[in-house]
Amino acid sequence: MFLRSMTTDPSEIETLTASYLSRIAQADDAALEAVRIEALGKQGRVSLLMKQLGAMSPAERQDMGPRLNGLRDSLQEAILARRADLASAALEAKLLAERLDASLPAVPTRIGSIHPIMRVMEELSEIFADMGFALAEGPDIESDFHNFTALNFPPKHPAREMHDTFFLKPDAAGERKVLRTHTSPVQVRTMLSQKPPIRIIAMGRTFRCDSDQTHTPMFHQIEGLVIDEASNMADLKGTLMALMRAYFEVDDVDVRFRPHHFPFTEPSAEMDVRCDRSNGQIRIGQGQDWLEILGCGMVHPNVLRNCGIDPDVHQGYAFGIGVDRLAMLKYGMSDLRDMFAADTRWLKHYGFSPFLVPNLAAGL
Ligand code: PHE
Repeated sequence: MFLRSMTTDPSEIETLTASYLSRIAQADDAALEAVRIEALGKQGRVSLLMKQLGAMSPAERQDMGPRLNGLRDSLQEAILARRADLASAALEAKLLAERLDASLPAVPTRIGSIHPIMRVMEELSEIFADMGFALAEGPDIESDFHNFTALNFPPKHPAREMHDTFFLKPDAAGERKVLRTHTSPVQVRTMLSQKPPIRIIAMGRTFRCDSDQTHTPMFHQIEGLVIDEASNMADLKGTLMALMRAYFEVDDVDVRFRPHHFPFTEPSAEMDVRCDRSNGQIRIGQGQDWLEILGCGMVHPNVLRNCGIDPDVHQGYAFGIGVDRLAMLKYGMSDLRDMFAADTRWLKHYGFSPFLVPNLAAGL
């Protein structure tokens, strides 16, 4: 009887509906949640009413079921609608409060800068692309064969130690890989995989256990290799002089070749460029001083043979240059170690805009 008196009066349901709906229509976020719990929560008024359906006679249930369902649905709908209204009103208010003045000048944001080494490598690839060189690549972790043996370093030869090589732990097969000590293994990889004529440069990281003002354990080299039937020392010299002129943006450079030794070239030379060291600055191309800049030579017949090329038919030249050194000379950094110290003040000062891509036509 008690239940009947509570539930079967349709007018009571109507009153309930009207009162809830009017509270919902005026509710703020917190009040809305309170109404929801009060009416539709587990112990809510409407939920409890619905629980009583089971105890009703079928006839009553047929009458009350739809009414109660209708009540529940209309409250749910009203709550959702009110919630959406409150959210869009809040957004509106926020947008009004945060209004921007689009006519204010934009604040420039720095998106980082191009590291001078990267910049110099881009400049060098421009210059060499213009001279018809293709770009070759090789891994930083090399086999002893590519880094030394194929390049005519005799086994146990002190030159292997001379490079202050970083050796890796022997692998399962007992092979001891190295961090490449120069870019010359890319010569080997290229000759093993391509037939002459070959005209490539290779750039990248190289590693030697050494650290002072002009040495870092990781540094960068650019390697050049030309193999055909006729290229000779004069071509080598001409190519390197053209490189120096283009890179340092000077009309004329004076260079000299000093005899040297590399196991993989014969004859071998080091090239110096004329420079002026007065006033604490190095100016390339003029003056009374010489600056050692790279190693080069004619590819040794043994190296050609090791790479499956017949030295009686083919010959050519190779050169290797320290990229970091070139960068220091052109952009005036005094300590190589700063290049890799990741000091953002240094990077800001010496870095290049990513939007300024070097090209020969516009000047490097
Ligand atoms: N690989 C040599 C070095 O790192 C440089 C070089 C390259 C010399 C090619 C001659 C020819 O010292």
